[in-house]
Amino acid sequence: HVYNEYFFDEPAWNTHDGGYVPLEEPTTPQQKLHVPAVLQPDKETATDQYYTVTAQESETQLLPGPKTKTWGYNDSLLGKTIIFKRGKKVHITLKNELHELTTFHWHGLNVPGPYIDGGCHAPVYPGQSSEIEFTCNQPAATLWLHAHPCPSTAQQVWHGLAAPVVVQDEAEAKLPLPRNYGVDDFPLILQDRNFHADNQWDYRADYDPDGVQGKTPMINGTINSYIDVTTQRVRLRVLDGANRREFRLHFSDGLEFAQIASDGGILPEPVYFTKVMMTCAERDEFVVDFGKYQDGDEVALMSDDVPLVHFRIHAFEKETTQLPEHLVDIPDLPVTPGTETRHIVMSGMDEEVALDGKKFEMQRIDARQKVGDVVLWDITNSNEMVGGMIHPFHIHGTQFLVVSRNGHAPYPNEHGWKDTVSVNPNEHVQIKVRFEYTGVYMYHCHIIEHEDGGMMAQIESFDPKHPKTYKLMDMATL
Ligand code: C2O
Ligand code: CU
Ligand code: CU
Repeated sequence: HVYNEYFFDEPAWNTHDGGYVPLEEPTTPQQKLHVPAVLQPDKETATDQYYTVTAQESETQLLPGPKTKTWGYNDSLLGKTIIFKRGKKVHITLKNELHELTTFHWHGLNVPGPYIDGGCHAPVYPGQSSEIEFTCNQPAATLWLHAHPCPSTAQQVWHGLAAPVVVQDEAEAKLPLPRNYGVDDFPLILQDRNFHADNQWDYRADYDPDGVQGKTPMINGTINSYIDVTTQRVRLRVLDGANRREFRLHFSDGLEFAQIASDGGILPEPVYFTKVMMTCAERDEFVVDFGKYQDGDEVALMSDDVPLVHFRIHAFEKETTQLPEHLVDIPDLPVTPGTETRHIVMSGMDEEVALDGKKFEMQRIDARQKVGDVVLWDITNSNEMVGGMIHPFHIHGTQFLVVSRNGHAPYPNEHGWKDTVSVNPNEHVQIKVRFEYTGVYMYHCHIIEHEDGGMMAQIESFDPKHPKTYKLMDMATL
């Protein structure tokens, strides 16, 4: 079966939310897609990995003419790709070379909260550093690192503080998937920006409480990018790294592609699409087979009618590898008897956004859940169908399973691990949530300006036998 829909009200899309800024095709020359370098460990042993991750301010040649002031992790913009190996203990020195406080949030990583997780309670002050350690014990996946200081997450991510994180494991290594990084396996960080005078970004000028958008697509920090295709099959690890934009992906000629992974890892089976939509913070891994093209052909990955990445086809060796029908097993997670369904409502737009009728408070713990329990969460988007927005709902420190959408089956690519799920206007989505570690974790809309605007709350995952207290930041201590 091949799915040919975008999944959400496609004809109404561009008009149903008044603030929507359509993408425009860049007029500057095509440039080779920047592939983030792999961050080299300071040291690696059979059991441990040691890294230093530095948030820094710099500038990047994005357009002809003046360079753009940008921020990044160990790089001038975005960041180097950090690779964790399942089972290893990871030690990271987090360095802040910015002129303001930041935090280092590991989006999608199952680690204790709130300090290692790196949400708003784990500040690293300018010129300072801090140390974290954890054991990476989760399936192979594409995750990401981004800044998360409240309430300036949106601004810092917009400046460039977002980097790919890859978890590797043995189950993934056995599958016949492309994994030659930078050759047939590429991270694609989809973002959008506006360029103002002297090629600069201007967050304030572009500010919109419903999420900052730009008309120019920027992929891995490249404007008008192309990839040289030198193998028949290519794997794309796509992250919607935009503050607010959904991407409605398809190829210029309708080429079919296979999705093999969602946020938290490999899917139970590949799902074939000609069109797929991604909302903020979601990751989808695709395998694209360019077997029908000839040397010299070109095909583009588009969002709506705007190309994001051009694929320039070169001569390649013919391959006959097929994706297996079954990829990995995903356990079912039965709901823990005696637990009650947790109801959550994301409401409002603009400055009115709220979660359960409230604005986020750093020192208020909104809910508690016993560590290890599997609890059904029912998340409602109370926006109206007309004029409303999709709110992508994200929980820190866990990978969950999607159960249903308005009582119906989830999308065909939602049968694997997720940490972010789109909730459409007038929809309620049920998910099964389990925390493997104790801690205080944030959950929120991942339109980053909505999150900064208060559409966020926090939950304590607790162990009744070992009660803990947490030092939670408040605005005053910032
Ligand atoms: Cu990408 Cu609070 O997260
Ligand atoms: Cu997160
Ligand atoms: Cu939202």
